[in-house]
Amino acid sequence: MPEAADPAFLADIMRCFTDKTYAIPARWLYDRQGSELFEAITQLPEYYLTRVETALLEAVCPHVADITGKSRAVVEFGSGSSTKTPHLLSAVDPAAYVPIDISADFLASSSAVLQEQFPELNILPVAADFMHPLTLPSAVADLPKLGFFPGSTIGNMVPRSSIDLLRAMRGNLGVGAYLLIGMDRIKDEGLMLAAYNDQQGVTSQFTLNLLTRINRELDGDIPVSSFRHLSIWNDRYSRIEAYIEAREDVRFTINGQSFAMAAGEKIHAENSHKYGLRDARLMLRAGGWSPVAEWNAPDDAYTLFLAEARQSKSAP
Ligand code: AVJ
Repeated sequence: MPEAADPAFLADIMRCFTDKTYAIPARWLYDRQGSELFEAITQLPEYYLTRVETALLEAVCPHVADITGKSRAVVEFGSGSSTKTPHLLSAVDPAAYVPIDISADFLASSSAVLQEQFPELNILPVAADFMHPLTLPSAVADLPKLGFFPGSTIGNMVPRSSIDLLRAMRGNLGVGAYLLIGMDRIKDEGLMLAAYNDQQGVTSQFTLNLLTRINRELDGDIPVSSFRHLSIWNDRYSRIEAYIEAREDVRFTINGQSFAMAAGEKIHAENSHKYGLRDARLMLRAGGWSPVAEWNAPDDAYTLFLAEARQSKSAP
């Protein structure tokens, strides 16, 4: 096995094929190549999420600052290219900015770009999987926090995990912190499906890149062209599901072990949950965050929520 292989990646992939769960946590889609392909997705005409959220943020950030005040430490979860962050940073004038991302080299290059735009800003990048416990830099320990979780990234998680994450964020950011979080809304099925089945096939490349990553990092020989990408709407679970489907019977090895899949068998690679307003508020509250304000994009396509980690009071 190549030295750089992440043991957690290996374990998840081996479990997927050995136990035939045929499900892989979505975070493994985001290696350097995957992060770049996701950036390309955000530019697609069908992928409304980024455009709609960026426009909404531009309008909303001054109102966020009115509520939260300035000079907090802004902590961004899954910062990626940090393209939406300038709107928030300009409005809330933070004491420090802590971008957290799983892709270390992507994090370094996007932090450098942001530093040029905000030369005075104290940027403290943390390369970590925010799904696992993490320690914030000691320099921000005593500052009040404003968490930033844009992009409907929370939609990647099933509710049990999203609530675990919200609770962990509350623990990390502390009582008195605010969280600005973007969530994609339930809308016309055709619009949602188009966003995950683009004409140019970038989403397909993004999903299938997982197989290329397995081949490269885990010494695999999966014939990528024997698979195709598929996205469907699951109405009961209110989410888009992305699959990698075998087009034909196929055999391959990963890390010295042999596997076979039959034509039509599918690996579940990603979920993108969509929310109603009440779903979203309940999820926030279950995670320990009290909703204080919300801003909807035109046609209720998307919503930004501002929530606060309040000291819990016992009910009368
Ligand atoms: C980064 C999780 C928000 O679910 O819309 C986009 C990922 N995958 N197209 C989403 C994604 C395929 C995206 N998130």
